[in-house]
Amino acid sequence: MLTTLSIPLLFLWISANAQITVTVNDTASHTIPSTLLLQNRAFQMVDVTDQTSALNAWHSLNGAQLTVIEETVPVSSALPNALSVTIPSGAAGQVGIGNEGYFGIKVNSSNAYNASFFYRFPTASSFSGTATVGLQTSTGQILGASNVTLSGSQTDWLQVITTIQPNTTPDSLTNNFTVTVNGGALAGQTINFAMFSLFPPTFKNRPNGMRVDIAETLSAMAPSFFRLPGGNNLGQTVATRWQWNNTVGPLVDRPGRVGDWGYINTDGLGLFEYLTWCEDLNMQAIMAVWSGFALGGTSIAEDDLGPYIQQAIDQINFAVGDPTESDAAALRASLGHPDPFPVAHIEIGNEDFFAADTYTYRWNQFSTTLQATFPNLTFLATSDTFDPVLTPNPAEWDIHVYQTPSWFAENSFIYDGFERNGTHYFEGEYAAISTNANDIFGTPADGRLTFPTMQSSTGEAAFMTGLERNSDIVFAASYAPLLNHVVDSQWTPNLVSFDLNRGDEYLPSTLPDASGTTFWGVVRKTSVVNTIGTASNVTFQLPFLVEGTATLQLLTGAETDSNTPTSPNTVQPQTSTITVDQTFAYNAPGFSVSVLSLTTA
Ligand SMILES: *[C@@H]1O[C@H](CO)[C@@H](O)[C@H](O)[C@H]1NC(C)=O
Ligand SMILES: *[C@@H]1O[C@H](CO)[C@@H](O)[C@H](O)[C@H]1NC(C)=O
Ligand SMILES: *[C@@H]1O[C@H](CO)[C@@H](O)[C@H](O)[C@H]1NC(C)=O
Ligand SMILES: *[C@@H]1O[C@H](CO)[C@@H](O)[C@H](O)[C@H]1NC(C)=O
Ligand SMILES: *[C@@H]1O[C@H](CO)[C@@H](O)[C@H](O)[C@H]1NC(C)=O
Ligand SMILES: *[C@@H]1O[C@H](CO)[C@@H](O)[C@H](O)[C@H]1NC(C)=O
Ligand SMILES: *[C@@H]1O[C@H](CO)[C@@H](O)[C@H](O)[C@H]1NC(C)=O
Ligand SMILES: *[C@@H]1O[C@H](CO)[C@@H](O)[C@H](O)[C@H]1NC(C)=O
Ligand SMILES: *[C@@H]1O[C@H](CO)[C@@H](O)[C@H](O)[C@H]1NC(C)=O
Repeated sequence: MLTTLSIPLLFLWISANAQITVTVNDTASHTIPSTLLLQNRAFQMVDVTDQTSALNAWHSLNGAQLTVIEETVPVSSALPNALSVTIPSGAAGQVGIGNEGYFGIKVNSSNAYNASFFYRFPTASSFSGTATVGLQTSTGQILGASNVTLSGSQTDWLQVITTIQPNTTPDSLTNNFTVTVNGGALAGQTINFAMFSLFPPTFKNRPNGMRVDIAETLSAMAPSFFRLPGGNNLGQTVATRWQWNNTVGPLVDRPGRVGDWGYINTDGLGLFEYLTWCEDLNMQAIMAVWSGFALGGTSIAEDDLGPYIQQAIDQINFAVGDPTESDAAALRASLGHPDPFPVAHIEIGNEDFFAADTYTYRWNQFSTTLQATFPNLTFLATSDTFDPVLTPNPAEWDIHVYQTPSWFAENSFIYDGFERNGTHYFEGEYAAISTNANDIFGTPADGRLTFPTMQSSTGEAAFMTGLERNSDIVFAASYAPLLNHVVDSQWTPNLVSFDLNRGDEYLPSTLPDASGTTFWGVVRKTSVVNTIGTASNVTFQLPFLVEGTATLQLLTGAETDSNTPTSPNTVQPQTSTITVDQTFAYNAPGFSVSVLSLTTA
């Protein structure tokens, strides 16, 4: 589920001849509701010698003694830990455990919640009775509950699955998921639990699927592609690298990993879920493989790359291979998807400019072997463009830039200078993140933005007019990061408030002044971006007759205006009608993005 996310989205698809136009849509912006689901649901990657952190998000109810243990009989080889719950002698009433979720648990009586866990009695007993699986307010009011049967003779792991139908929808999010037993009946006994799960309905009812509200927001943006597994979250160390095969199949077989940004990734959102998500939204996947470099600084030596290249081959086969020829592809088929997923571009690493010296041999070995194995796929290089020179010559590059609003406006012509020679470019991560040119990655006090502002959005939009104009060589572009839980930001600003209009045909026009402040692009729809605070008059001269009225979608506001959780509608696009002709003037307000939709007569 989308709870620990920094997934760069790729939301403009610009194929060689189909051009785009971009607008900013802040009506789609909203506060991501505080979360659902269980935190630390399977004790993945926790340190049992530090019980405080191992028990993160869990608490005892009515005196139960909780310990995260390294199980002598683990529920699976992937999940060595379990939660040992001892009911004290002399206990009475309902005794058990609670989980506070990720920043709370949103409970809605319109939804049924699927709940499950594994349990076993490490010491057999004659107990036979129920456990109550429920949702409660912070003060213990029961919002919904379901009784399941437990047996003291169950010394092997058994999964219990049930559904909770809440009877009220509390305003508060500070609710708990609880499992309780009759303290009197079980006094002195111990039950071990593993791999809890709690799910509301998901987008398209996919198992381990996406949160409906977020998925619908993204779906409404009509994204064309999605980059996965996402940015630099490929591994700080070789051991903790993202490995596709650790993220597929039953949840109980997914070990999880310490992600690159410090928190534990459950990998409940695994490769199959990502690819299904792409298919559900009609998006192409741009899929990365780990390229022998860990972000912490380790590169695999030239002679030792073989197993890692093989793991990349297996990963690609899982996505697109023939089930009769590859075990990985057969695994995909066994999960219900015999057909290949929509993947055509493979990124070899991510931001490998961090290890440019070793990328030369890593790129060489990975791309040569993978291209020979998958002649139909195209491979992207991720070091600085043309530096170092890579062999074989990359067909595609992924370029990232985090800069100031004015940098984006001033560099809207950057791709105009690129040679037209068959090499293509993916603007894989870009965002205006700070107004302070001397300290791009500084804190908010140094100009770092928390949310996109009108100034940053118009700078980016100006840059995007350049992407559009150069879409014969820039085949895709995406703002990054995609999503942010407002309660726990790790990076700002994030997307969620952008939309796009796609034109079908790029119409060459007088070029904007590269060092100016007003930018435009003419496609079947026309967009104008004004990056300064004063209005700017633009006269259009069209090579064809048009109807006398056009639709104007205008997004404008003060330089520092942002849509924020407390003020989600500060900047809203306004739609109006304007009068146009074959030659017409348009006055773009300060800090504005305008989309003019004209109809040919
Ligand atoms: C912006 O997004 C909202 C919500 O998805 C949608 O209703 C609206 O039509 C969009 N506006 C524009 C200008 O595309
Ligand atoms: C509860 O869920 C229903 C159906 O998904 C939705 O329409 C409603 O807005 C939700 N209520 C709250 C308070 O989120
Ligand atoms: C709910 O969880 C919070 C956080 O762990 C805890 O402080 C509170 O006591 C819990 N309430 C109940 C009724 O379990
Ligand atoms: C669950 O069982 C307990 C007794 O063990 C009972 O009090 C309670 O009403 C039952 N709850 C449900 C939802 O059936
Ligand atoms: C919840 O359980 C029902 C019944 O087994 C199932 O149809 C549904 O797909 C499950 N939902 C999720 C999100 O797994
Ligand atoms: C995934 O594959 C790697 C080797 O490619 C292997 O070391 C690891 O054990 C596998 N993980 C699982 C869960 O099978
Ligand atoms: C690869 O491309 C060729 C030519 O377009 C096509 O005939 C073939 O089916 C493709 N193979 C796969 C595995 O997609
Ligand atoms: C295209 O031009 C760039 C920049 O001059 C160069 O680095 C690259 O190798 C060229 N690509 C091809 C296919 O010749
Ligand atoms: C822009 O042009 C229009 C029409 O020519 C004119 O009425 C208006 O005063 C001009 N605005 C500015 C700010 O120059």
